[in-house]
Amino acid sequence: MNASVFLETRRHVGPIDSRMFGGFLEHIGRAVYGGVYDPGNSLSDTSGFRKDVIEALRRMRMPVVRYPGGNFVSNYDWRDGIGPKERRPARPDFAWKTIEPNTFGVDEFVAWCQKLGTSPMMVVNLGTGTAKDAAELVEYCNLPRGTYWSDRRVANGVKAPYAIKLWGLGNEMDGPWQAGHVPPEVYAQRAAQAAQLMKGLDPTIELVLAGSSSCLMPTYMAWDRVLLEYCWDHVEYIAAHRYSGNPASDTPRFLAEGVEVDRILEDYASLIGYVRALKKSNKKVYLAFDEWNVWYRERHRDYTWWQGAPPLLEEIYNLEDALVVAQFLNSFIRHADVVKVACLAQIVNVIAPVVTRPDGLLIQSIYYPFVLYSEHATGIALVPMIDSPTYRAGDRGDVPVLDGAASFNPEQSAIGVFLVNRSLEHDLKVDVTLCDRSIKRVKDVKVLSGDDPKAANWWDDRDMVKLVRGKAKLQDDGRVQVHVPAPGLAVFDLELSK
Ligand code: AHR
Repeated sequence: MNASVFLETRRHVGPIDSRMFGGFLEHIGRAVYGGVYDPGNSLSDTSGFRKDVIEALRRMRMPVVRYPGGNFVSNYDWRDGIGPKERRPARPDFAWKTIEPNTFGVDEFVAWCQKLGTSPMMVVNLGTGTAKDAAELVEYCNLPRGTYWSDRRVANGVKAPYAIKLWGLGNEMDGPWQAGHVPPEVYAQRAAQAAQLMKGLDPTIELVLAGSSSCLMPTYMAWDRVLLEYCWDHVEYIAAHRYSGNPASDTPRFLAEGVEVDRILEDYASLIGYVRALKKSNKKVYLAFDEWNVWYRERHRDYTWWQGAPPLLEEIYNLEDALVVAQFLNSFIRHADVVKVACLAQIVNVIAPVVTRPDGLLIQSIYYPFVLYSEHATGIALVPMIDSPTYRAGDRGDVPVLDGAASFNPEQSAIGVFLVNRSLEHDLKVDVTLCDRSIKRVKDVKVLSGDDPKAANWWDDRDMVKLVRGKAKLQDDGRVQVHVPAPGLAVFDLELSK
């Protein structure tokens, strides 16, 4: 099968914010305890941080990591997690029915971020917490010294303020499962009050409203509209979440998942535009897609209550999941004018690209697209014109076989190209034409593919899904022809002539 992609460096939607390649770490299951934090393990450093985890995550180049939840945050008191560890209380965690020992808190998280080379995105509790609690966390983190909470940070051994820039105003407050769930008008008031106090202490921070938890919620968009109308002047972003799934094992339909992601991004772009027009505002509010991934297998809630760090949501990822992850990223790049922040949910053990055991670490399939995109998608987001055959994707109708995105880095004179072949049967021969510049060479063609979309890496066979070298050729007429296997992902750079 053949398809074509036409690119032009002047046809773009603006810069790609590197925070599009963020992650999310929640206090849940073995994400923190036994995941990033495992004191006493020979694989951990003197702070108790797993060195192998840090090394694997470093290759993902996440500029920001959201913390500490998720559902967890909505009944969390950040004060429980500071100061001498022996004095920190163990608490029941309302969200996941486990015991939270609080031996890892704000200070440990920021220290871990510094080791990893990332920035924290701190979410405050607007479920059971107050605006004052949220503001005091800003005081603890961002004020230099001379006030009660900033002095407590200094007393806890951290002289320089953390200067945390990005803050989340609660989590999924539209969900009846959320501690402190309220109607949108009430949450909007809470968020505005918290924003007023938080920015009153540090006007340089940026705030994210908790938008709809899913496009399947009956209040989808209505919830978001109320919040944006009420909080428009207080915030920089609204959050969206999506977890994709293939419960009916309908892979052709699942592999058209990017269509749904596009639609969500366009819904938000329209809503933001509507509220902006309503307000006659010059301000722009952007999207923080601060939870996204594939998650549908490990969704049961028959917990064994009140354990320490039981395995929860430990999804095993296969090739088709990785191709859906690639489509999320394609969609984010194509909508880089809307999406400024996005956080893969999550990063270790819990619905994660990286899995630990006490004696080692495993890389899951979804790790690979993320690593490729965060490396190659830099600069500005091009608008690709794609000419592709279509296929029947169940109730999603006829969908293009080829899903693609591209970036242009003027400093490096390079174009990153990201192509997903959604077909289960037909390899694609894709012609890439760059309309306004000439291509010097094709670099670094990487492919993720395989005969079995259900193939997954696990401890006994860790290389079932891995990157291999792909095939592409610069032709005499200046076009590049690349082979994208079915189903599969191909990522490569085009080096441009000066
Ligand atoms: O990431 C797992 C959970 O999914 C988060 O705690 C919550 O925000 C979402 O529903």
